[in-house]
Amino acid sequence: MKVAVFSAEPYDRQFLEAANRAAAANYEWVYFETRLEVNTAPLASGFEVICAFVNDDLGGEVLQLLADGGTRLVALRSTGYNNVDLQAAANLGIKITRVADYSPYSVAEHAVGLMLMLNRKLYKAYNRVRDDNFALNGLLGFDLYNCTVGIIGTGRIGVILGQIMRGFGCQILGYDPYPSPKFQEIEGARYVELPKLYAQSDIISLHCPLTPANHYLIDAQAIAQMKPGVMLINTSRGPLIDTKSAIAGIKSGKIGYLGIDVYEDEEQLFFRDLSNTTIQDDTFQLLQSFPNVVITAHQAFFTRNALETIAQTTVANLQEFEQGSPLSNEVRPH
Ligand code: NAI
Repeated sequence: MKVAVFSAEPYDRQFLEAANRAAAANYEWVYFETRLEVNTAPLASGFEVICAFVNDDLGGEVLQLLADGGTRLVALRSTGYNNVDLQAAANLGIKITRVADYSPYSVAEHAVGLMLMLNRKLYKAYNRVRDDNFALNGLLGFDLYNCTVGIIGTGRIGVILGQIMRGFGCQILGYDPYPSPKFQEIEGARYVELPKLYAQSDIISLHCPLTPANHYLIDAQAIAQMKPGVMLINTSRGPLIDTKSAIAGIKSGKIGYLGIDVYEDEEQLFFRDLSNTTIQDDTFQLLQSFPNVVITAHQAFFTRNALETIAQTTVANLQEFEQGSPLSNEVRPH
């Protein structure tokens, strides 16, 4: 079976082909480096199955074009599916699968990496030492020990983050509409309502999916409730934070540190080398200019372990579809 792979990078090829061999499967991957969007959807014409990633557009218009071209399955290589109009897919008879569970450690550990980068100003220290500047002025940090860490979304990733931060000796607060016994097993961890989490946390880390209900969860009103100098970490999805409000919070000093692996308009930027172009997104450029902001380009998932699982699960999802078996990783409209 031929599968059109969108947003295909060299590492996708490497891991998908290895997973094909390991499963003795015979999928013929046809790679498109381009992002899937209205203009590129015709490339999928004639492919019953396509494979897509986080910034591919799977809104109603694209799904209609895919359906017209004969697509019946979209196999996502991601956990999140906020980029898919699930109702439109169901109406068009297109099934959607995802990779529900791949190394939550990859994302949780990256969130910790951002915290340490910011807290100890490691990004500055690295450049200084390379420049033979061994002065410590301006690098003053603080201990994570005894800090209060507020985790919004205590699913697979949030729980691992709680466990790691407990290891640092932090106090752990959580907020989740669906409490998790695993979170409650973390020594001293407790659930609180959002206003309390905002008011008491020194560090706030977002680990909930993006839904219409929590778009701009972190807006001016939420930021106003936070501790002065709070550290905000987002490795989940960009639109959970209203970037303009975050910028206002940084300027006023309310937000002391911002570490993000996702950005609300990242589709136009991330996963590409734009080093020879002029970035047109002024908001992003302004964000980049602050000394207390660290941005990584949606790389939290990017470990060998996670890519292996993503590719293996994708192949397993295709096999279930091909055999007409129930799709264990299907996502349906809520
Ligand atoms: P999960 O489904 O195991 O956990 C998500 C948790 O968030 C659930 O417990 C759910 O009840 C909770 N939740 C839903 N709405 C909420 C809200 N408004 N406030 C607080 N909690 C809420 O998901 P998992 O695997 O932990 O992943 C979380 C998110 O991380 C994904 O949805 C995805 O957006 C993001 N992600 C980012 C990656 C990256 O490379 N930066 C890679 C993988 C996931």
